[in-house]
Amino acid sequence: MKEIRNIVILTGAGVSAESGIDTFRSAGGLWEQHRVEDVATPEAFERDPELVLRFYDMRRARIQEVEPNAAHQALARLDAEWKGGLLIVTQNVDDLHERAGAGRLLHMHGEHLNAWCLSCDGRHRWYGTLIDRPACPACGIAGRMRPDIVWFGEMPYRMHEIYAALNRADLFVSIGTSGAVYPAAGFVREAREQGVRTLELNLEPSQGSHWFDESRHGPATEIVPAWVDQMLRQQQY
Ligand code: OAD
Repeated sequence: MKEIRNIVILTGAGVSAESGIDTFRSAGGLWEQHRVEDVATPEAFERDPELVLRFYDMRRARIQEVEPNAAHQALARLDAEWKGGLLIVTQNVDDLHERAGAGRLLHMHGEHLNAWCLSCDGRHRWYGTLIDRPACPACGIAGRMRPDIVWFGEMPYRMHEIYAALNRADLFVSIGTSGAVYPAAGFVREAREQGVRTLELNLEPSQGSHWFDESRHGPATEIVPAWVDQMLRQQQY
């Protein structure tokens, strides 16, 4: 098998599930409790900003109550010790990868802990609420801050960097994601077309499982540390 030097890892809600954050599409998951069209689109924000802001205020508060788990820690260890190229592309909007210590990380769907001012376009680290319509720390205008979350119908962030990393990769690993949301769900096919090896680590076979060269199933806190141990053992330089 070709030597593995450059790795791209895509993570989804399954990585944070064992930290106590709800996934989206499981039974009782977030999209069963709330309609996507009510809380996660620009149209919803225009129609009923209070509802949308309250939803994200609750989510922002929740992520500050939980801790990274063994899967986040294992990926941070891989980031620290892997001498080749590595990029963790997360769909997650929590900060658990970085709290575990991961540095080579990109949030393609935005971050709960950022607020985005629609007046001056500034982004600000934000731990509190937005429902009270605070003033932007940069331009001072009140009532124009929204969660810095990529909603349905909006373009995910840093796609250029992601595709460039995929084009250089030797291995693409998808962890804890259902493969239901594009463009992330299409990365496995992009990788395959470039001749990149593909591996899925998920609780169960995802919608796109058949696209992967290999799938390993189980809880992220077990299968991710085991895979990281394996990668670091076989690191050749
Ligand atoms: P989903 O909720 O769609 O999928 C979570 C996946 O994680 C499922 O395949 C589960 O089987 C798996 N899973 C659950 N618990 C797990 C565990 N303990 N260990 C390993 N795997 C586990 O979440 P995402 O795929 O992340 O977008 O969803 C993608 C996007 O859809 C999100 O980023 C979000 C959402 O709408 C935005 O909000 C823009």
